[in-house]
Amino acid sequence: MVSSNIKNICCIGAGYVGGPTMSIIALKCPNITVNVVDINSNRIKAWNSENLADLPVFEPGLDDVIRKCRGRNLYFSTSVEDSIAMADIIFISVNTPTKETGLGAGFASDLKWIESSARTIAKFAKGHTIVVEKSTLPVKTAETIKKILYSLQDFEEEKNNNNLQKTFSIVSNPEFLSEGTAINDLLNPDRVLIGGEDNDSIDKVSSIYNNWIASNKIITTNLWSSELSKLVANAFLAQRISSINAISSLCESTGANIQEVAMAIGSDSRIGNKFLNSGPGFGGSCFKKDILNLVYLCRYYGLNEVADYWEAVVKINSWQQKRISSIIVKNLFGTLANKKLAILGFSFKADTNDTRESPSINISQDLLQEGAQLAFYDPRVKKEQILKELNSEKYGENIQICKTAIDAATGADAVIILTDWKEFLELNWSFIYKSMRKPSWIFDARICLDNSYLKDLGFNVWTLGS
Ligand code: NAD
Ligand code: UGA
Repeated sequence: MVSSNIKNICCIGAGYVGGPTMSIIALKCPNITVNVVDINSNRIKAWNSENLADLPVFEPGLDDVIRKCRGRNLYFSTSVEDSIAMADIIFISVNTPTKETGLGAGFASDLKWIESSARTIAKFAKGHTIVVEKSTLPVKTAETIKKILYSLQDFEEEKNNNNLQKTFSIVSNPEFLSEGTAINDLLNPDRVLIGGEDNDSIDKVSSIYNNWIASNKIITTNLWSSELSKLVANAFLAQRISSINAISSLCESTGANIQEVAMAIGSDSRIGNKFLNSGPGFGGSCFKKDILNLVYLCRYYGLNEVADYWEAVVKINSWQQKRISSIIVKNLFGTLANKKLAILGFSFKADTNDTRESPSINISQDLLQEGAQLAFYDPRVKKEQILKELNSEKYGENIQICKTAIDAATGADAVIILTDWKEFLELNWSFIYKSMRKPSWIFDARICLDNSYLKDLGFNVWTLGS
């Protein structure tokens, strides 16, 4: 085990990043006490659930880690102030969504949760504290955090007229995990990125990861390169998806096949074969918000052409979703009135219960506006979550949430695959065909089913990109 004098870590924010990341740190660093704190008491309650099926984040393998560490050196609580006071290192892992109103609305990140975290740290930290930006942030945010930390400190010191000697170092350590594979990504990352101003703090943060990650995978940079690299990594990943999705439409018009094209181009080692799966557009809480944030930064610095270039990645993504809903309407004789459609998959990708920015939301809303009756099934997303995402009051009886895929498909005119959950591949499609209204359609927006087998059963099949 790598030794360092870090004994106590606090993580502010017990979400999809804070929860899994700190669980792995606790697992790999049994000598460090890890306190994960949140202002959302329901979320903390769920993290402390006896039944591990009730954890607020579903990630394969996470329950095992929690079983091993919770109560040993991993604690979830709402004791934000006390945990800050005890910590040698504080990770800020709070949400940074797109601003909805005011300056930069629709593009810039809303940093109000970052600011409130910094203010609380400024007030309750003791001695020297390393503050780590784990959240994804606009480049230069470390400057803002530093200003908040030190301006409040001056005030406190004046007020109390005693020498508190609080000092802070800011380190950027963005997270690259993907939901659904978070545990493996955290255990075996391609790299860990640490940006900072002073070597001592960088070394201390590195020493945590060195407990399970080889030194050559720990990259260190200056603060601004680290902050910017996170936004750029997400922008490049999302750009690949928009590129392949744009080509999927051209395949449909020309008789080419998107999977064959992806295979052909992906075998060029300069292009690589990952992240070339065409689908209903990228979802998740980050790609869109991080690109919009990049666009905002570019415009702020007067780089309008650069901003337009990246904004197009988001525009193609919305276009792909609209394109799919209109293909469904056209194939179902131009009207969805009095038609039941089964939507299989509501999470933004398989193996997660996260629905933020899921393509299923926009596509389902388009179909509801056409008068369709939608029957949803997702193996992990709870009924209330689907209803909340869809603004369900508007559509009343036209939304039904089902306990099985078969229930959703029974009597339907079409089945629409929007998330590639493995269990959809194993469904009894012959039985489903018999239970549906004729003509029976399958719209496979994830290219995950065997379309020639389905056609043999009698289905009309539309597969994206062919
Ligand atoms: P999340 O919404 O799931 O969790 C954030 C948590 O922070 C919430 O539970 C919220 O209650 C809590 N919080 C907010 N302000 C607080 C405060 N002042 N004190 C205590 N708790 C507070 O968000 P997330 O998905 O975990 O993302 C967090 C950050 O990590 C974002 O910046 C995101 O861009 C980035 N990120 C996310 C992922 C991902 O896969 N979700 C991956 C990499 C990076
Ligand atoms: C993404 C990045 O992959 C992570 O590195 C990053 O840490 C994270 O965002 C973040 O900053 O939040 P995540 O959104 O969890 O992770 O999941 P991805 O696997 O990247 O998938 C994002 C979306 O793209 C999903 O809707 C997925 O279905 C879609 N996708 C992905 C495709 O349509 N095609 C692909 O080939 C890959």
